[in-house]
Amino acid sequence: MESIQSHTYEVHLEELAEAALKQHIAKSDYSKVFVLVDENTKKHCLPIFLKKLGLEVDAVFEIKSGEEHKNISTCSMVWEFLSNNGGDRKSLLINLGGGVLTDLGGFVASTFKRGIGFINIPTTLLSMVDASIGGKTGVDLGVLKNQIGVINQPEMVLVFPEFLKTLAERQIVSGYAEMLKHGLIKDEEYWKALISMDSYTDAACIQKSIAIKNDVVLQDPTEQGLRKILNFGHTLGHAIESYCLENPDKPTLLHGEAIAIGMILEGYLSHELKGLSRLSLQEIKTSFLAHFKPMTFTPEDIATIVELLKYDKKNSHGDINFVLLQAIGKAVTDVTVPEHLFAKAFAYYEE
Ligand SMILES: NC(=O)c1ccc[n+]([C@@H]2O[C@H](COP(=O)([O-])OP(=O)(O)OC[C@H]3O[C@@H](n4cnc5c(N)ncnc54)[C@H](O)[C@@H]3O)[C@@H](O)[C@H]2O)c1
Repeated sequence: MESIQSHTYEVHLEELAEAALKQHIAKSDYSKVFVLVDENTKKHCLPIFLKKLGLEVDAVFEIKSGEEHKNISTCSMVWEFLSNNGGDRKSLLINLGGGVLTDLGGFVASTFKRGIGFINIPTTLLSMVDASIGGKTGVDLGVLKNQIGVINQPEMVLVFPEFLKTLAERQIVSGYAEMLKHGLIKDEEYWKALISMDSYTDAACIQKSIAIKNDVVLQDPTEQGLRKILNFGHTLGHAIESYCLENPDKPTLLHGEAIAIGMILEGYLSHELKGLSRLSLQEIKTSFLAHFKPMTFTPEDIATIVELLKYDKKNSHGDINFVLLQAIGKAVTDVTVPEHLFAKAFAYYEE
């Protein structure tokens, strides 16, 4: 399966990934090779990884899984581990895990001794199709997500879809939402292929999604224009995600589950404001609801979510800016939405 060239590194999949890593380690002069895992990837992925690559690693460090551990105290533990185990500027850190671990491990590597090399091996669907591209590394600051970090590219990213066999179904479906987004914003044919498939973890689809994100990021590395299209579904999705987090009586949503709702709502806004056809809108709604359990929203919920929107970091000068669709595969950015449409969008979602 063909590799994908990103900024300064390649994303290799399956057998090519194995070969690329062996070659890279053989030709590089690393003083030490460290692997970062959490309790789940240590159990499910590390044995496969070590066997597959027949690689000698110097030490493995385990952190606790979960967004609540994506913080500076966890980073300190990893920095100390590297330091106590002879890590120097020529060491390599291999991050074996989901997006929490690759974001944190990338940040630790980028800052240890002013920066050592790192390789990301994403083990969740979301981290394969999303976090593998763009060079965003970092951690949370209290409840505020991804506040501390740097943009820095890994030496390579290796994708082994077989790791997904042990991933919880709910996590897989959450990653699938990002893949559907890639079709919606950039490629109608890919969208149609995805919605007619039974498997979410097809290697060719994972590759396609990575390629779509990569194309967008390469065309707009500093997030000035085109890259905003990756936020389709995220403006309302993030607000819903935060609202549910702050309200114990609401279900806790995974990221993909929240943006799935966001994409239906923003699909409705696209129909109202940008000419997305009724048929396409209906197809978007039906396709998401086939995989994601519907939620109900009271008028008070909706009012609070709309308030939260106003604090979203993508909004400038008080306007709420959206990415909307003119058609499936064709996204437009910087659309201002009149406030009265939000309640109508939620009504459409629930009808
Ligand atoms: N850098 C980026 O561009 C980017 C993009 C998207 C998301 N993110 C970040 O990614 C994070 C979310 O990542 P995620 O959805 O991968 O969640 P996650 O990293 O929390 O992983 C989800 C759970 O799955 C477990 N797990 C991982 N791989 C497994 C496997 N193969 N088998 C069994 N269990 C496994 C983990 O231990 C964890 O419990 C967020 O912090 C988000 O900010 C970053």
